[in-house]
Amino acid sequence: MGSTESANTSLTQCMRVCSEAENRIADKVYVCMMEPKHAASVAALERLCFSVPWSEQAFLDELQKNPTARYFVLLDKDNPTQVIAYGGYWKIFDEGHITNIAVHPDWRNQKAATYLLCQMMQFARVDGIYDMTLEVRTSNMPAQAVYSKLGFRNEGIRKNYYEDTGEDAIIMWYRPEREEVEEKQEETL
Ligand SMILES: CC(C)(COP(=O)(O)OP(=O)(O)OC[C@H]1O[C@@H](n2cnc3c(N)ncnc32)[C@H](O)[C@@H]1OP(=O)(O)O)[C@@H](O)C(=O)NCCC(=O)NCCS
Repeated sequence: MGSTESANTSLTQCMRVCSEAENRIADKVYVCMMEPKHAASVAALERLCFSVPWSEQAFLDELQKNPTARYFVLLDKDNPTQVIAYGGYWKIFDEGHITNIAVHPDWRNQKAATYLLCQMMQFARVDGIYDMTLEVRTSNMPAQAVYSKLGFRNEGIRKNYYEDTGEDAIIMWYRPEREEVEEKQEETL
């Protein structure tokens, strides 16, 4: 398969998966940029989701001191103080390095992560980003399922990446061809 055909397939697949996620959950939730007022709830959710969680101060520092940081929260429409999920990336030139994404245990397997990541990827394109990357634990099958469906592919391993268990990280990349992204953007304008 040629690279343009492959990129087209991956973008079409990504758009279909995003549309399914939107149909499933968008009537219950909405995405907005993370603000300092969300940091305490996000840190609480982080503690529920990760064995080595970032602190509230770490999120505040990201929001207030890191010009490359872009963070988002997924909120419950019926209870907007409830942070259901969050995610973010660093803009490194024209690449997006996803730092974290997590969903409250009560909201998992309802396409919350897929929906949030789709929104982040759309924002990233407008932000001048084409390719996106992340690390994921080799044992984290739900996360890998989300990323694979959206067109992220395994491109390498970081040995013993995670401090707590020494587990390896899979390095995943999403690399649509630029002209295909621009074409799709024009179609949706
Ligand atoms: C990973 C995580 C963000 C996924 O959130 P989510 O809202 O449940 O994700 P979605 O509902 O959008 O998609 C989950 C997919 O994983 C699949 N899945 C769930 N458990 C799975 C398993 N054990 N093996 C393979 N796939 C699995 C689901 O079937 C679903 O795919 P589908 O939509 O095709 O059915 C969530 O589990 C989480 O917060 N985990 C803790 C934090 C974390 O690991 N973050 C990622 C760090 S890289």
